[in-house]
Amino acid sequence: MLHKPSQSDPSDPNEVIPRHVAIIMDGNGRWAKKRNMPRIAGHRAGVEAARKIVQACGKKGVEVLTLFAFSSENWRRPATEVSLLMELFLTALRRESKKLDKNNARLMVIGDRAAFAPKLQQEIARAEALTGDNTGLTIAIAANYGGRWDIVQAAQKLVRKIQSGELAAEQVTEQSIDAELAMYGFPEPDLFIRSGGEQRISNFLLWQLAYTELYFTDILWPDFDVAVLDNAFSSYANRQRRYGRTGDQVQVKGA
Ligand code: IPE
Ligand code: IPE
Ligand code: MG
Repeated sequence: MLHKPSQSDPSDPNEVIPRHVAIIMDGNGRWAKKRNMPRIAGHRAGVEAARKIVQACGKKGVEVLTLFAFSSENWRRPATEVSLLMELFLTALRRESKKLDKNNARLMVIGDRAAFAPKLQQEIARAEALTGDNTGLTIAIAANYGGRWDIVQAAQKLVRKIQSGELAAEQVTEQSIDAELAMYGFPEPDLFIRSGGEQRISNFLLWQLAYTELYFTDILWPDFDVAVLDNAFSSYANRQRRYGRTGDQVQVKGA
């Protein structure tokens, strides 16, 4: 079984829900520009869109939702936009963590948080501690995250283990690398969604996306709603995931 069928009607392909959805929330700036608004207004509207998608994923029974909020390359943006984004992140954490906790959702942040201001780091730690034991939807916010950074930090940890004699070079395997990555212990993304029209990965979860189904939409992130999510999910439900095998070898969904 390659997909996790819903309990209600496993034979309906539209009911096949991805366990892990990873989203590049792109297009905030263009959304604002079209309205003659400052880019930050697009980012604010983007937070609202994210809130709705979090709710919808919780309802649909998604296990993990990873949201790309700030890439390791986004520091290249004008300093004012970067600092407004940091402020928005802090405010969103403060505002949302209690509600997420009430909804049994778990919040975690992946990425190099050492680059953030101390008060943002504290707020992240507080939100993670508050929601850490929750068993519902896990929301992973990728912030100062880069897929290459993730692989590099994993390599560094493994090298340290080798240097200390804890590990032999031959024991560096896909599994041992995986075990040092930021999303260790969670299922790999089943469905990747990128809004905003660009068809690229932009250094998101490089290792973990190896066999993820990709879905691109021109919709700008602030306009992304449950109807768009439904389209992505039904596209996903109709794909055959072969993992290198032939189509005939792969069990028919729902069979
Ligand atoms: C995505 O929207 C949000 C972040 C990268 C923080 P953009 O800000 O990249 O929006 P566009 O691509 O300029 O429209
Ligand atoms: C990717 O979007 C990162 C986030 C959405 C946080 P970008 O807008 O930074 O990606 P590029 O620069 O167009 O590839
Ligand atoms: Mg962009």
